[in-house]
Amino acid sequence: MNPEAIRTAVDKFPRVELIHRPTPMRKLEAVSAELGGPEIWVKREDLTGLAFGGNKTRKLEFIIPDMLARKAEVMVTWAALQSNWAMLTAAACTRYGIHPVLVLFKRYDLPPEYDGNMLLDFILGAEIRTREPVAGKITSREAAGAVIEEVADEFRATGKRVYTISVGGSMPMGSMTVPLGAIGYVDAFVELLGQTRELGFTPDAVLHSSGSGSTQAGLLLGAKALSPSTRIVGISVSDEKAPFARDVETIAAAVEAALGIKTGYALEDIIVFDEFIKEGYGIVNRDVAEVIRRMFRREGIVLDPVYTSKAFAGLVDLIGRGYFRKTDRIVFLHTGGTPALFPNKGKIVELLGGRVSASS
Ligand SMILES: Cc1ncc(COP(=O)(O)O)c(C=O)c1O
Repeated sequence: MNPEAIRTAVDKFPRVELIHRPTPMRKLEAVSAELGGPEIWVKREDLTGLAFGGNKTRKLEFIIPDMLARKAEVMVTWAALQSNWAMLTAAACTRYGIHPVLVLFKRYDLPPEYDGNMLLDFILGAEIRTREPVAGKITSREAAGAVIEEVADEFRATGKRVYTISVGGSMPMGSMTVPLGAIGYVDAFVELLGQTRELGFTPDAVLHSSGSGSTQAGLLLGAKALSPSTRIVGISVSDEKAPFARDVETIAAAVEAALGIKTGYALEDIIVFDEFIKEGYGIVNRDVAEVIRRMFRREGIVLDPVYTSKAFAGLVDLIGRGYFRKTDRIVFLHTGGTPALFPNKGKIVELLGGRVSASS
């Protein structure tokens, strides 16, 4: 397939403009030299333009028109406390006059305080409903789906039109029957490939943090259609490899059907590493703190403590293990999430050898 054919298929779906595109791309000169291996480039999906940026913005460009087409007055979604998805969806909805209701499952490691994304949720006027986590996990998709439908019913009972949507805008569940979020990432791959080709190369791999699966599903389909030698490598931050790869598969199959394309991808093309989850979703460890410091000091780029730092720590580890060839060119997708640095300050400062209070 060619980029125009993909663009035509994507353009069948209406979108609103939330992004400054293309997002910037540059070589990580210092870190690539330090690691002595492949050439690493970064694509700044953290500079998309809505709030503090992030990968959710591309998804919302396709999801908001679906809400508008159904004349939604209220949007109900769920996520974990301090979620980027929840905050960015609330920001986009508010801009379009849709009232955001966020069901946030508590985390064991963070208090429900107005800090980071929750501070932004508050400023936006989003309605926050916190819920207890479910034994050991934040929640299951099905359980959370039932909870948001219950909340939606409260609003329906008052005559409001409600749009419900699952975490990450990934699974076709609730009101979103087509995986619109992933379509945003098919389009992102077209953009990315256009940029690297202009720079004179085809990436050997694109590596990114994977959470609910639609970033990976979209990129995978883009790559299979346009650049089959480019591997899409997802670093999972929450789910084990096998069930997560099946989720990506489910989303990818639904996107192919929606776009009317066949890329011929196979389950083996869905590359997922789950060993960097370590202590659990969102839990800051030494690798995370050190990689945040390294990228900020060497490249002036701030990673977030939940997603991009785990992905970059994974990249460093995979390079150390010889997973990539020394001559490879890798694009690391900075998917955003930086507001979560602040509520995690205690752990980051401690791991980097300081104290939260700066007084001596
Ligand atoms: C900053 C950031 N990076 C990566 C991801 C993962 O993207 P996806 O949910 O599409 O797998 C998320 C999702 O929450 C995120 O907030």
